[in-house]
Amino acid sequence: MNILITAGPTREPIDPVRFLTNKSSGKMGYAIAHAAADASHRVILISGPTQLDVPDRVDYIPVETTAEMYAVVEHWIGKADVAIFSAAVADYRPAQVPDHKIKKSGETMTLELVRNPDILGSARNAFDYRGVLVGFAAETENLEDNAREKLERKGCDLVVANDVSRKDIGFDSNDNEVLLVYPDHSEGVEKGSKHHLGHIILEKALELVPPS
Ligand code: CTP
Repeated sequence: MNILITAGPTREPIDPVRFLTNKSSGKMGYAIAHAAADASHRVILISGPTQLDVPDRVDYIPVETTAEMYAVVEHWIGKADVAIFSAAVADYRPAQVPDHKIKKSGETMTLELVRNPDILGSARNAFDYRGVLVGFAAETENLEDNAREKLERKGCDLVVANDVSRKDIGFDSNDNEVLLVYPDHSEGVEKGSKHHLGHIILEKALELVPPS
């Protein structure tokens, strides 16, 4: 199978020396990429900047901004049987990026942000993707309802939801505990290492590939 995975944070420049980003470590997406490469699938890993080693035997495409990630996904997704969007994509970017460093001046400073494109939300329509589509949802409340709303809105077959208000799982942790939200039901996966969950999420996604 051909498997496309997005992972890590995106970085949105403010000026040549500063950027906006988030706390995503990329561990969950890289664990899925490892699991898929170990099982001899062809993997394209499209990743924002992380501290992680690139798994062996994956085609790795590094990106920084959401616009770069969007363009790379648009180019490659048509070849994928399964697309898994684990990246923590910045929802907004600075409206203007000067080509010089911004000098401090007043006591306050206002940064205008504009909405980024929704890459996962573009898969079904703008990219005309027909394969298995897996999204992630990071929630602090109403985990299942919010994840199901995302699943429907973005045309996913499965949303992997995690509760980011818990300190022991998510973001930089090595462990995670997720709820798998399907169009007609949900199932919990008990807490485990991201390495272990990577295998489970991959298996669950592959189960959704129709027999050829
Ligand atoms: N995603 C994406 N492109 C974006 C934003 C999100 O591909 N511009 C993907 C993520 O990779 C993830 C899912 O969409 O698979 C998360 O959806 P999103 O609505 O961004 O989730 P939250 O940030 O948790 O949403 P909200 O701010 O609405 O809580």
